[in-house]
Amino acid sequence: MHDPAGAMPPNGSIGDLLYQRYRDRDIALPPTAGDTLGVLLAHRSVRAYTSEPLPPGTLETLIAAAQSASSSSNLQAWSVVAVEDAAHKSRLAELAGNQTHIAKAPLFLVWLVDLSRLALMASARGEPSAGLDYLESFLMGAVDASLAAQNAVIALEAMGLGVVYIGAVRNKPREIAAELGLPPQVFALFGLCVGHPDPGKPAHIKPRLPQEAVLFRERYGRAAAERTAIDTYNQRLRAFQREEGLTAQDWSTQASDRVRDAKALNGRDVLRAVLNDLGFPLK
Ligand SMILES: Cc1cc2nc3c(=O)[nH]c(=O)nc-3n(C[C@H](O)[C@H](O)[C@H](O)COP(=O)(O)O)c2cc1C
Repeated sequence: MHDPAGAMPPNGSIGDLLYQRYRDRDIALPPTAGDTLGVLLAHRSVRAYTSEPLPPGTLETLIAAAQSASSSSNLQAWSVVAVEDAAHKSRLAELAGNQTHIAKAPLFLVWLVDLSRLALMASARGEPSAGLDYLESFLMGAVDASLAAQNAVIALEAMGLGVVYIGAVRNKPREIAAELGLPPQVFALFGLCVGHPDPGKPAHIKPRLPQEAVLFRERYGRAAAERTAIDTYNQRLRAFQREEGLTAQDWSTQASDRVRDAKALNGRDVLRAVLNDLGFPLK
């Protein structure tokens, strides 16, 4: 890159990449990240944190990672609310199934599908934005927000921090929207607790389905091997649960319970109507 003043960080360094992303030198540098694949494979949800505050620059770093994710047509149809105030976190914890880790984490992020920026921009130009009224636009925002959040998760885990997603912010979406002051066309998709993992309550890597169950080649097809793969997984997950001191229960049982009926959705069965009220016609 052209740098007449010679003030640029070395080409390809994290500082250089951050500069290229923002064309701004005033961005906090992240602590060194380890091997990417190692970080991905080492993921485990962390629900117990120490009281240690997050390193300076953590929020700016995770946002830079999030904004570095791909975005549908570069519309960047997402935003995030960072919550650090203790009383505010407690109220959100209460609304999200009384999950105490939300209140205990030093940082709680709420990732948003945000179509309001696009609507406002179009309206400022005196143009319509009726395309935002379609399910496709909501989905696009949800995909963009998810990719952004997962990029942030990888950056945070690379920095040695622990996270857990919180889908329960969708249990009471109207109350969450009011608590966060969300305008129409903005929806809280999921939360994310961030903190230093408590070494006294370590989380371990949770096994996943064997690849035969999720990977098809050329065409989708229910392989005869899939039944065996699920049986194998049930055994492996039970072993993991026993190691963790949890009640052992087949994945098949857990998953069936979770999809049994509307009641199993913890209030989220009315989401379509709520979304309509929050400014998403979902045509
Ligand atoms: C979108 C999403 C929402 C989630 N919501 C919650 C939640 O509300 N509470 C929670 O404790 N874990 C939540 N989780 C974490 C999952 O339970 C966890 O990722 C899964 O059990 C696999 O475990 P692992 O992340 O440790 O590998 C959520 C995960 C995702 C991806």
